[in-house]
Amino acid sequence: MKLRDSGMPDEAYWATLFDTELILDRLEIDATVQDVAELGCGYGTFSIPVAKRISGRLLTYDIDPEMVSRTSARAREAGLENVLCLVRDVFADGFDVDDASHDACLLFNILHCEEPARLLTEAARVVRPGGYVLAIHWRCDVETPRGPSLDIRPQPERIVSWARDTSLLKHDGLILDLPPWHYGLRIQRI
Ligand SMILES: C[S@@+](CC[C@H](N)C(=O)[O-])C[C@H]1O[C@@H](n2cnc3c(N)ncnc32)[C@H](O)[C@@H]1O
Repeated sequence: MKLRDSGMPDEAYWATLFDTELILDRLEIDATVQDVAELGCGYGTFSIPVAKRISGRLLTYDIDPEMVSRTSARAREAGLENVLCLVRDVFADGFDVDDASHDACLLFNILHCEEPARLLTEAARVVRPGGYVLAIHWRCDVETPRGPSLDIRPQPERIVSWARDTSLLKHDGLILDLPPWHYGLRIQRI
């Protein structure tokens, strides 16, 4: 099932809405990070720069075949050999990987979905103890040019509370400012 409110504007406009490198810096995505899994590659806005930074493989999924072709094409054009991009309904079928097999799992602009706590449990499953579920989302405290409607847009504290309820994840209380429109959370796998 496609997550609610997960349609995308055109690619060039979407790219203007983020300072991608700053976001990845603040989330501490660098060569010390090995394998990473991602739900919802979209246009590859984050997938491509993440794959360039990490020392392992980026496994990324999208339910929309056009998004998968676009991200795969961008990975090829960039000469990246560490990107595996597949069509999959992660919400229904989960990540097709072993427990604790990844250093990090990315949920970027995703957690306004139905059943976010179930999704966080599945993300936690794929991350090794000490690894991270990394989430970014649209701020709720300012007007933003895009993003899901405010009645389903989660505040950071809400995501932290869902994460704690999984009993698999812990958060140190730090809410990252990802200007201009986003916040971020590094949520650790226990
Ligand atoms: C709001 S976009 C975010 C894309 C990317 N994470 C980013 O921030 O640029 C959400 C993406 O999730 C994908 N998606 C929605 N439901 C999904 C599902 N059940 N399984 C996998 N991908 C899904 C959509 O097709 C879309 O590309």
